[in-house]
Amino acid sequence: MNLTVALTGASGAILCQQILLTLEADERVAQVHFVASENSLRVLAEELGLCERDSLLEKLLGAASTKTVQHDDEEIGAAIASGSYPSEGMIVLPCSMGTLAAIANGLANSLISRAADVTLKERRPLILCVRETPFNRIHLRNMTLAAEAGAVIFPVIPAFYNKPIDSAEMARQFVCRVLAYIGLPQPGAYVWKAEE
Ligand SMILES: Cc1cc2nc3c(=O)[nH]c(=O)nc-3n(C[C@H](O)[C@H](O)[C@H](O)COP(=O)(O)O)c2cc1C
Repeated sequence: MNLTVALTGASGAILCQQILLTLEADERVAQVHFVASENSLRVLAEELGLCERDSLLEKLLGAASTKTVQHDDEEIGAAIASGSYPSEGMIVLPCSMGTLAAIANGLANSLISRAADVTLKERRPLILCVRETPFNRIHLRNMTLAAEAGAVIFPVIPAFYNKPIDSAEMARQFVCRVLAYIGLPQPGAYVWKAEE
């Protein structure tokens, strides 16, 4: 699989780190294109203590990547900005309300919003892991607009019935749900079993 992962300035940077690590380890995934918005860097500094753009990917993965390439959000000439490039889907994790608005309204003025626009026009899976609370009416309208255009609204709402012991486990299980949704079920994913 060839996937795009975007990190935006919503809370939940650990989720993006977890999905990048999981895709890196998944042999079914040949290539990952990673884009971090400018504003995500502020949240990364706050939540993960990572404050430099240089070698950000290496810092998130803890090692050099064998399959993930990072692009600047201004790089609108990147391969993933074109529908002719055989990307198989895009995940925005976490997705801020600002990026949701740009995608829902077709702005396509950054690599993230352009790649999402292309993903929708090519009818490929676009997963928007939106994060805000509470939602105002603009957020709700934009989610409806994006869903009507073909995006999947996959809010950052973790499960509690699996009794996660910490935020890392919560993040791992959330990422498992996202990846299962796009056809990449993961070992160790919690599966609910009702008592017989
Ligand atoms: C620590 C921190 C946490 C934030 N959390 C959220 C959030 O959960 N959801 C959201 O929509 N915006 C959040 N924001 C605001 C966004 O970062 C801001 O609206 C930004 O312009 C989004 O830009 P981007 O979509 O280009 O990444 C947060 C900002 C900071 C500094």
